[in-house]
Amino acid sequence: MKKDVRKAIIAGNWKMNKTRPEAKELLEAIKPLVANANGKVEVIACVPFTNLETAVAATEGSNVKVGAENVHFEKSGAYTGEISADMLVEVGVEYVVIGHSERRQYFGETDETVNKRTKAALAAGLKPIVCVGELLWERECSITEEVIARQIKLDLFDVAAEDVKKTVIAYEPVWAIGTGKTATADQAEEVCAFIRNTLAKLYDEQTAQAVTIQYGGSMNATNCAELLSKENVDGGLIGGASLKANDFNTIVQAAVNL
Ligand code: PGA
Repeated sequence: MKKDVRKAIIAGNWKMNKTRPEAKELLEAIKPLVANANGKVEVIACVPFTNLETAVAATEGSNVKVGAENVHFEKSGAYTGEISADMLVEVGVEYVVIGHSERRQYFGETDETVNKRTKAALAAGLKPIVCVGELLWERECSITEEVIARQIKLDLFDVAAEDVKKTVIAYEPVWAIGTGKTATADQAEEVCAFIRNTLAKLYDEQTAQAVTIQYGGSMNATNCAELLSKENVDGGLIGGASLKANDFNTIVQAAVNL
């Protein structure tokens, strides 16, 4: 199987940006620009919790899907400040970012909690976007593959093949996030191909070929076409450039035109 059997997915990760009126304005600007991607490229806006309801309403009837940026693994209970998968589903959310490096770095996220969140999301019918990636120090020590293999094995522990096919993997080298330093297209391809090989060993070739693997980390309107042209790069998780409608659209169009 080849790249064209997989769904290309361009997802914006808004992080901690935009009030509700600002979110509505940005989505209203994005919607008409990306309408032609319908059926070709999945377009997602992952927004802060407070914007979810606004985003679901603003994108209704369009081809833009809504994602959250985190989810808790318990169904309900005494977890002050947390949001469950069922709560997200009830609002109309379809995707959720799990294990973003900022959550691993600043909020104590571990592979164990990423695994629990991934399983909780899948059980509720959400599609997880599971983020993996090495630190600069780990790359310099030439252990990128070990780090990525470990994250994939732990983050997807006990996730069935059918569920892995609904899961998106985002390869985001930590040194490239928000730094303006993009991995070269060859570096991105090398690790995305390694992720697919790891999935093939853990599951089987057919399952591995079905999984959408995104690249993320300073992807922008200028470098997107080359990154997305790579065999194992099936889309992008976009931070900074997803906050500008025209830049985000340029990335979507690069995926449409592949
Ligand atoms: P960036 O963020 O595009 O701003 O580097 C990517 C991400 O964190 O998902």
